[in-house]
Amino acid sequence: MTVRINPSILSADFVNMEHDLNLISNADFAHVDVMDNHFVPNLTFGPQMVQRIQDVSPVPLDVHLMISDCDRWAPQYAELGAASVTVHAEATSDPVALARRLKEIGARAGLALKPGTPFDDYREIAHHFDQLLVMTVEPGFGGQKFMADQMAKVRQVAEFRARTGVSLWIQVDGGIDSDTIQQAAESGADTFVAGSAVYGKDNPALAVENLRKIAQSHHHHHQE
Ligand code: DX5
Ligand code: ZN
Repeated sequence: MTVRINPSILSADFVNMEHDLNLISNADFAHVDVMDNHFVPNLTFGPQMVQRIQDVSPVPLDVHLMISDCDRWAPQYAELGAASVTVHAEATSDPVALARRLKEIGARAGLALKPGTPFDDYREIAHHFDQLLVMTVEPGFGGQKFMADQMAKVRQVAEFRARTGVSLWIQVDGGIDSDTIQQAAESGADTFVAGSAVYGKDNPALAVENLRKIAQSHHHHHQE
């Protein structure tokens, strides 16, 4: 079973970003949290900074847009070369059109659900996306506590995927560490974002490898 570990650079040093990106060259993607101080009560950076991150990153970018009006702003992140662009279901007025546009440009399209947003509301359109992000914290900040009650939603998405045969990566983001990644993997997640559990460690690359091993062993159990 393939699992993906995507460190969140929200927990990196913003003035040593190139250095900190090179610390996680063994990761699958670098997870890039774009926040606009409107959709969430926090502010990070926009397309100009993400372009520079794209230029220097040793791994492809997994951009997580926590912004209002993503219908307008998301395509430019695909255009600058991000491998994956995820928008929030709560922030788009036409998710299917946006997914088509992102894929046309050449990015994987992701749909994110806040903890209070049910998967059932988006079940009918999920097959238009390449990735479904189940938030395991309220979006906005790193270092929050993992919400175990979101595992029911991860299982729903995993069951949907198994039943329909769609190819959909199931991502979890928020409070993922060497303990919580086990239940997320057992529930069916295959793509794991971790900020503080990677950049909070002395050896971020080793943290990535440890998370990968744990996720792999727990996912395998579940599959068999
Ligand atoms: C939160 C962000 C996350 C955050 C995760 O809104 O979407 O990507 O960086 O950080 P940790 O892993 O520390 O919870
Ligand atoms: Zn994120």
